[in-house]
Amino acid sequence: MRERSDRDVIAVERMSVTYMSGGKAVHAVKNCSFCVPKGEIVGLVGESGSGKSSALMAIPGLPPSGTLTSGEIYCRGVNLAILTEDDLSAWRWRRIAIVPQGAMNSFTPHLTIERHITEVLSHHLKIPKKTGRERAAELLSAAGLDSRVMTRYPHELSGGQKQRAALALALACEPDFLLADEPTTALDVITQKEVLETIVSIVRERGMGLLLVTHDLPLAAGMCDTLIVMKDGEIAESGPARQVSKDPRHPYTRLLIRAIREMDVAR
Ligand SMILES: Nc1ncnc2c1ncn2[C@@H]1O[C@H](COP(=O)(O)OP(=O)(O)OP(=O)(O)O)[C@@H](O)[C@H]1O
Ligand SMILES: [Mg+2]
Repeated sequence: MRERSDRDVIAVERMSVTYMSGGKAVHAVKNCSFCVPKGEIVGLVGESGSGKSSALMAIPGLPPSGTLTSGEIYCRGVNLAILTEDDLSAWRWRRIAIVPQGAMNSFTPHLTIERHITEVLSHHLKIPKKTGRERAAELLSAAGLDSRVMTRYPHELSGGQKQRAALALALACEPDFLLADEPTTALDVITQKEVLETIVSIVRERGMGLLLVTHDLPLAAGMCDTLIVMKDGEIAESGPARQVSKDPRHPYTRLLIRAIREMDVAR
């Protein structure tokens, strides 16, 4: 674990996330500690329901209301877990941006893609509309989209285009860290690969830190520096991606790798 004062890392320490559902407590994340250093890609893998999204959304303080969270989340030496909502909102977008599970969650249906980006730029960086429009075109181009999508509404884009637009939006304020939750699940295999490659190349080029949530361990192993394997809200295993995928220590990790291989063979 790095120093708390380290400016270039998100350090999650003893994080727990508990939902109250029908009077019962659901312990989605239990006492988890991990790091996302700037300039590195960290894959968070595990089967459905293992707590990946809960852990990711708790970092920028975005779990659903009524959720109990505990632990510390350091970024640039500041514990985000004790910030007020107003203070936290300044961290989101500008330092830590999110590509949520299902790109539709990034957009308001009645705003064009251009409006989405220019509003973020104007609200967070006070960039005027005209400059914002040029910046929006640049961001969309970096995300692999033609500037013609600027005037379109979210429902007028294909699944892959929507994910790319969500990526452009997340990159608008040049954040240090990107948190991407299954950014390509709903896409076909080829588009999935292309969009992931775009995300990885942008992150590498800009020296950002990326937390990439996916259920596909072998895919994550090929793209990430570090892998964290979650099971039932706990970290089963973590380490260098190559070691975790080639020489897994935990039986659950071996099971995950086998399950994905069997799925590939069946395809
Ligand atoms: N809002 C909620 N209220 C109650 N329980 C929830 C809520 N959101 C998630 N859970 C539960 O918390 C646990 C972890 O869910 P989470 O969404 O973090 O899993 P995940 O690893 O992201 O799964 P997936 O791969 O399907 O997206 C699950 O048991 C889930 O049912
Ligand atoms: Mg999820």
